[in-house]
Amino acid sequence: PHRHRSAGRAARPVRIDIVTLFPGMLEAPLGESIVGRGRARGVVYFLVHDLRAHAAGRHRVTDEPPFGGGGGMILKPEPLAAAVEALKPEGADARVILLGPAGRRFSQDVAGELARRPHLILLCGRYEGVDERVSGTVAHEELSIGDYVLTGGEPAALVVTDAVTRLLAGVLGDGEAPARDSFARGLLEHPQYTRPEVFRGVSVPAVLRSGDHARIARWRQLMSLWRTWERRPDLLETADLTPEEQKWTDGFRQGRTPADFLD
Ligand code: ADE
Repeated sequence: PHRHRSAGRAARPVRIDIVTLFPGMLEAPLGESIVGRGRARGVVYFLVHDLRAHAAGRHRVTDEPPFGGGGGMILKPEPLAAAVEALKPEGADARVILLGPAGRRFSQDVAGELARRPHLILLCGRYEGVDERVSGTVAHEELSIGDYVLTGGEPAALVVTDAVTRLLAGVLGDGEAPARDSFARGLLEHPQYTRPEVFRGVSVPAVLRSGDHARIARWRQLMSLWRTWERRPDLLETADLTPEEQKWTDGFRQGRTPADFLD
């Protein structure tokens, strides 16, 4: 019988290499939870590499002060280039990404893009910066996970690895389908509740306990839109809305609330 490629498990695992001066910052987190499950199921294969192993000379220098003066240390280009050379088998289709605060903004769309690649090489920046020549020669692009400065690219590499891994077929359980995520449609997810039915005086909305699946689906759709309207109205500018959702949004703009649209 034919196995569809998206069935995943039959396909070759996606490979993610991470190059860092601090391998210990990555190894333990990558063995845990859902990301570890993807690894255990052979859907994804991670390798963490010590940048220092690729630095030349007896002292294995990876960083030096900037030309032009100023404080701090800058990662040298050659060790990063040597690490990538060592990882990228000739002609292999690896996407090389430098993590840094000046990069293109990482998002769910970018995660989806990267999840279609067979091989990613993530380079973690450190110190006050990375020699400019790494972008464009060694790395195909630079990615930032947000507008704040980390001490290094390691947490960013974990964020990218996590977001990409959970999109790969065979990583999530059936109930966790990425198609239902926040952002899959450009909207925030509806609120979720579990037991107990009353917590600190706050009840679970009755509709969710009604057993009426059509009403529940409509409530969730409306609340997803309401939550987006309240918390992230910027997302509504690009979200892809159904005619009914458009009508609800127009209502919110005129001061209506979800209660006005529920029977
Ligand atoms: N390194 C330091 N800050 C970063 C950020 N915001 N995103 C990615 N890498 C980083």
